Amino acid sequence: MVDNLQGDAGRGYYLEMLLGSPPQQLNILVDTGSSNFAVAGAPNPDVTSYFNTEKSSTYTSQGIDVTVKYTQGSWTGVLGKDFVTIPKGINGSYLINIATILESENFFLPGVKWHGILGLAYDVLAKPSKSVETFFDSLVRVAKIPNIFSLQMCGAGLPVSGSGTNGGSLVMGGIEPSLYKGDIWYTPIKEEWYYQVEILKLEVEGQNLDLDCREYNADKAIVDSGTTLLRLPQKVFAAVVEAIIRTSSIQEFSSGFWTGSQLACWDKTEKPWSLFPKISIYLRDENSSRSFRITILPQLYIQPILGIGQNLECYRFGISSSTNALVIGATVMEGFYVIFDRVQKRVGFAVSPCAEIGGSPVSEIEGPFSTADIASNCISTGTFHEPLLWIASYVLMSICGIILLVLIILLLLPSRCKHRYTNNDVVNDESSLVHHRWK
Ligand SMILES: *[C@@H]1O[C@H](CO)[C@@H](O)[C@H](O)[C@H]1NC(C)=O
Ligand SMILES: *[C@@H]1O[C@H](CO)[C@@H](O)[C@H](O)[C@H]1NC(C)=O
Repeated sequence: MVDNLQGDAGRGYYLEMLLGSPPQQLNILVDTGSSNFAVAGAPNPDVTSYFNTEKSSTYTSQGIDVTVKYTQGSWTGVLGKDFVTIPKGINGSYLINIATILESENFFLPGVKWHGILGLAYDVLAKPSKSVETFFDSLVRVAKIPNIFSLQMCGAGLPVSGSGTNGGSLVMGGIEPSLYKGDIWYTPIKEEWYYQVEILKLEVEGQNLDLDCREYNADKAIVDSGTTLLRLPQKVFAAVVEAIIRTSSIQEFSSGFWTGSQLACWDKTEKPWSLFPKISIYLRDENSSRSFRITILPQLYIQPILGIGQNLECYRFGISSSTNALVIGATVMEGFYVIFDRVQKRVGFAVSPCAEIGGSPVSEIEGPFSTADIASNCISTGTFHEPLLWIASYVLMSICGIILLVLIILLLLPSRCKHRYTNNDVVNDESSLVHHRWK
């Protein structure tokens, strides 16, 4: 079960699965922010493969239509059941609920290498209702594995939407000691729908942002492998950007960099990471009078984008603002081995050995810290919103990662910064995708 994932933060990490009899091979995106298992069930110009139910002798349709809508994009399909095996996972073949996607809009996009999605969150988020047993619940019930899975995504420092793929591991049923270093720190799952946790404090280069802690959980804080970036509630985002500008040694920064519409580029021989601060997120410990902090270095959130110009390397800002959640997405998760312990209702974080660049770790975990100066509850109650399924962020990132109409080029020269604007390379290379975006 080690090293069974491929992918990148930009387009997601996926697992190979075999569906039906005889088996049909598909790549399935691992998403802890939704709860349906769904695969392409009809040809689609943007996927290279689909599950042909007519060719499976064990497929049974349940005749129930299902639609999942995201902030952008949606799909409609039919619920059925069939046998699934995971070649690089647990032994055996399991009868699983499968939604076959017959129509979709902005869900599959050009260049994604997966053909379906594995929603690993709780059944309350499953569509059309929670009575559709989730993939992982079926596995736990039938294979009798412990109700725990863990995830390591190894893309730190590698281009976000390159042509290659990085590795990773999804361990079903437990914890694999080779995938982490040091201690595992656990934070309680506050409510079992998404993996909702409680964030107490944020620091930029050791300086407390000092917002009311409820701002960090507005209106929820979740751990989601299906979201590319670290997403922050608007107020928190503004404070983080302000703190980064204040602590970084870069004088001029176009606002487009922070909003994600522009890249910053440096000469290939320069690495910009030393110019940016560390960011720490404090999570409530299992002992509620304590906290621990997970820290990401700039190597995780100032992310290289592949292949623009010959002498330049361009980077995007791996943090974005959100109107309804703080999302610990792939940008942060790539620093850690993350344990989804559904038995003890807690999420664990440990430093991941693959989160290193040039032999230096790009993430840290420290604790315990006292919570004496923090409210006893940082989560406002009574704000239950209709869940938005966070896979939408991948769709958006696939678009944004490619359509950077204006690139800011900061050539860091010894004494000063020089600006230049260009966009030819990207637009020429990706003209078909540009078309897709604007049609
Ligand atoms: C899977 O099955 C094979 C063959 O029966 C066995 O050798 C192996 O130990 C099993 N692995 C697990 C994880 O159960
Ligand atoms: C929780 O943490 C506090 C402060 O560190 C400590 O005094 C207390 O003994 C801990 N409680 C438990 C049950 O471990």
